[in-house]
Amino acid sequence: MAYAAFRSIGAYAPSKVLSNDDLAKMVDTSDEWITKRTGIKERRIAANDEFTSDMGVKAAKLAIERSGLDKSEIDMVVCATISPDYFCMPSTATIISTKLGLGNVTAFDISAACTGFVYILSIAKAFIESGMKKNVLIIGAEKLSAITDYTDRATCILFGDGAGAAVISATDNKDEAIIDIHTGADGQFADLLMSPNGGSGSFHDTLEQEATSCFMQMKGNETFKVAVKTLTKDVVEILKENSILASDIKHFVPHQANLRIIKAVGDALKLDDEQVVLTVEKYGNTSGASIPMAINDIYESGRLQAGELMLLDAFGGGLTWGSALVPFSPLK
Ligand code: ACO
Repeated sequence: MAYAAFRSIGAYAPSKVLSNDDLAKMVDTSDEWITKRTGIKERRIAANDEFTSDMGVKAAKLAIERSGLDKSEIDMVVCATISPDYFCMPSTATIISTKLGLGNVTAFDISAACTGFVYILSIAKAFIESGMKKNVLIIGAEKLSAITDYTDRATCILFGDGAGAAVISATDNKDEAIIDIHTGADGQFADLLMSPNGGSGSFHDTLEQEATSCFMQMKGNETFKVAVKTLTKDVVEILKENSILASDIKHFVPHQANLRIIKAVGDALKLDDEQVVLTVEKYGNTSGASIPMAINDIYESGRLQAGELMLLDAFGGGLTWGSALVPFSPLK
């Protein structure tokens, strides 16, 4: 049987910084409120002519280069995004694979909001373990600034742009393999976090509604409570099912939505501060890009070494959630 190994990571963050002080000039908020309630100090914003696919390509190039593979060996591309270049078609994954010159590959997007990266990791694992694919490029890429209402202080302080990518490859060596992945969803909470317009489920009376049709809306406080409860339950279960202790985790890489959510889940697992990976302060919430951007952060700072075990953990619109036990397994 083939196993799936997490070979490499890459990420990209646009250069433009939007600070809390910048936001305080746009809506009724303050650096103090945002820092205290979210842990976010700044986020990155893509240029007008910089699309989700452009950021995805930059992250993917690094991931392919670091995988030690030739790009011709990639046989599938999956992109997790809620801010695709085009809402209906073509998929952002097909645009990315063409910009990378990957030729004839399977390519598609999935929509699982902030849980997107855990979902595409599970898809890559399943395709590899079934023998259908050998080297899968997975990308979480978001231009959330394009679907954020910068007059709504409840949401605009949270989100940023960026991309992260990883190469997942077939291996015979079980020690290198992704151990387990949980994914879940419950549509009864759909209204907590959604872009209520712009799809076949809505219609527009005015041009103004049409123009703002994709903006995100969130019931933040209710989402917060469900997030803490769901995430804590899920990580406890995945560790227990795999007979792994929280102390065996080298890097806990949670979705970077809110420092208070991350701390609550970390405390429930009794994790030390050194185990918890944090990028929320500098990137905010980049949805599907957030986990791979955080993994890239520890990789580039030399904190992530071959063989070290990561626990990934995410929660987002849908509602969706997921967790994964992933050893970092670069080719020697
Ligand atoms: N600046 C100042 N005051 C604000 C702001 C702001 N930016 N936003 C809200 N407030 C006010 C509210 O109006 C409210 O005022 P009131 O008490 O007079 O009514 C007060 O602050 C408290 O508001 P809450 O919404 O209760 O604040 P909370 O502590 O819950 O923090 C936050 C809000 C940061 C959004 C938090 O609820 C959160 O992080 N929620 C979870 C987000 C999440 O995990 N989403 C899932 C992933 S995202 C995805 O899938 C795309």
